[in-house]
Amino acid sequence: MKIGVFDSGAGGLSVVKSLLEHQLFDEIIYYGDTARVPYGTKDKNTIIRYSLEALEFFNNFDIDLLITACNTVSAYALKEMREVSRYDIIGVIEPGIMALENKLQDKNSSILITATRATIASRRYQNELQAKGYRDITAIQTGLFVPIVEEGIFDGAILEEVMKHYFKNLDKPSAIILGCTHFPLISKAISSYFDNKPLLIHSGEAIVEYLEQKYGVTQKESKNNLKIFASDNVEGLRFIAKEWLNTSSS
Ligand code: DGL
Repeated sequence: MKIGVFDSGAGGLSVVKSLLEHQLFDEIIYYGDTARVPYGTKDKNTIIRYSLEALEFFNNFDIDLLITACNTVSAYALKEMREVSRYDIIGVIEPGIMALENKLQDKNSSILITATRATIASRRYQNELQAKGYRDITAIQTGLFVPIVEEGIFDGAILEEVMKHYFKNLDKPSAIILGCTHFPLISKAISSYFDNKPLLIHSGEAIVEYLEQKYGVTQKESKNNLKIFASDNVEGLRFIAKEWLNTSSS
């Protein structure tokens, strides 16, 4: 099976990492729209337009399935993308909610949602969690993490300061939804900020669980073949991929 993975930039590589670890697919075509990242500061119509344009990129490949490894796109553009696509398109929000529910049954648990401004404004996570009966939900936009990750910074003083800025008034939550695929690249730092106590929900692991449960996808013998493309600075993206995935790609 050949699949496409799409994100606004480098963040979706966190999803690719999980897919590679579980060896679910023969071939992965990754496309990061690095010329236009971040999407999370844009309005709904722009996010939909960019997402539909990204779909055109995948016309060059005969993919069987597309994973939108971007919460912002998943929050706004899935319907429009599905309307014009001949293959299935999976977002990351539904899998994230499913992963949380599988792991955290106590509906009084405190849940912190961290995501881009657009994803928080869409209220997708908040509404779905409320509908499932969770009562203690805090949602904050933490968009500055996106350029930090795009810059290849995964720890250190700059990140510490930004975490302080966003998290200083918060109690330690039971769970944190990393509602942006850039954030798993700094999940060690986020977890350690909260003394490694909260359960972290990560779009990559969530999607693996989802693919196994809903699509019956299972581990393959063969090694996955990964090809990385970007709308700008493809070398920069391949560098992050090398650092982060510990694997070579073309
Ligand atoms: N990685 C994207 C997400 O999951 C967003 C980053 C951005 O483009 O703002 O929401």
